[in-house]
Amino acid sequence: MKDKKLYIPGPTEVRKDVIEEMNQCLFGHRSDTMTDLYTTIVEDTKKFLETDNNVIVLSASGTAFMESSILNLVDNKVLSATCGSFSERHANIAERLGKNVDRLEYEWGKAVKPEDVRKALEKDDYDAITCVMNETSTGIRNPLEEIGEVMEDFPDTMFIVDAISALGGDYIDIEGSNIDVIFTSVQKAFAMPPGLAVCVVSGDAYDKEVNSDSSSWYGGFQRSIDYYNRKGQTHSTPAISLMLAYRKQMKYMLEEGYENIDKRHKEMAEFTREWAYEHFDMFPEEGYMSQTVSTIKNTRGINIAELREKVDEKYNMAFANGYGSKLKEKTFRIGHMGIHDVDSIKELTDAIEDVAGL
Ligand SMILES: Cc1ncc(COP(=O)(O)O)c(C=O)c1O
Repeated sequence: MKDKKLYIPGPTEVRKDVIEEMNQCLFGHRSDTMTDLYTTIVEDTKKFLETDNNVIVLSASGTAFMESSILNLVDNKVLSATCGSFSERHANIAERLGKNVDRLEYEWGKAVKPEDVRKALEKDDYDAITCVMNETSTGIRNPLEEIGEVMEDFPDTMFIVDAISALGGDYIDIEGSNIDVIFTSVQKAFAMPPGLAVCVVSGDAYDKEVNSDSSSWYGGFQRSIDYYNRKGQTHSTPAISLMLAYRKQMKYMLEEGYENIDKRHKEMAEFTREWAYEHFDMFPEEGYMSQTVSTIKNTRGINIAELREKVDEKYNMAFANGYGSKLKEKTFRIGHMGIHDVDSIKELTDAIEDVAGL
């Protein structure tokens, strides 16, 4: 099969030598080789994300941390800021776990506003607030930095951030934004094969879990962090081959640096937006557009399913339709994350122009 170029919001393109890194003999997960591998990826991730908080790399997709962040930190009430499908999933997970959930709900395409967060937190006591950094279903980048300033005044409420489609491609000062828990899946801006999730946990969140009534076993922050601090390993058998790939890719990311990666993503987002304004329109609220996923309004009434199929057939490239029944044909999405650059995004926009006759 000829390689298909991926412009979906994850999985995204992965370097060939990173994939090849998985083609190595296995070793025991309690061996010194494993300790060396796991401590390297944890410490390199801290260095890359410029954080002194705890880092967990778990064999799972990021949704595991959506669930465990609730189990670990919410005894009673959680405020869920919802502005699309994935932030709604976090609220839904909390409900399924029997928690008391208040939604701070926004229309799809609109961003969470810090002043609304402040008002909601002043009205009631919450164990935590959940907020998505980048709402992949709508292409909204929430103002986490400003929400973080609000959180400064509510130190007993944990700030939980789903950054699955942004972390690593859109700079965030984790401690400076008062974020207690932030997690991602590696198949997004980390440009790795799927199967690992990364979570950054503050000391306050660690302590809150220790004192809480319930916590997750597999996704328990304390269990993973303690195991790492004692043995430099994971609490159960990890996806060793994926971690080998992770080590290699993280070296590339450190070499380029977060600032440069952030800049490259900004350039891709700006290029894509300009292209969208020329031929279509953008869907998300002005001022809050994502740096990793552009959601473009289908102002021409093009058959998106057909367009995707034809671009796939002729150019062997995949981009995404709108998310869910609400936006499927009304929008389409271009994922510009990971190892892409403006030139590779232009290859896709040229292909779309050709096929759609723009
Ligand atoms: C914002 C956001 N949250 C959660 C998820 C679920 O991630 P995963 O399938 O890796 O668990 C996604 C996937 O696209 C996402 O974009």
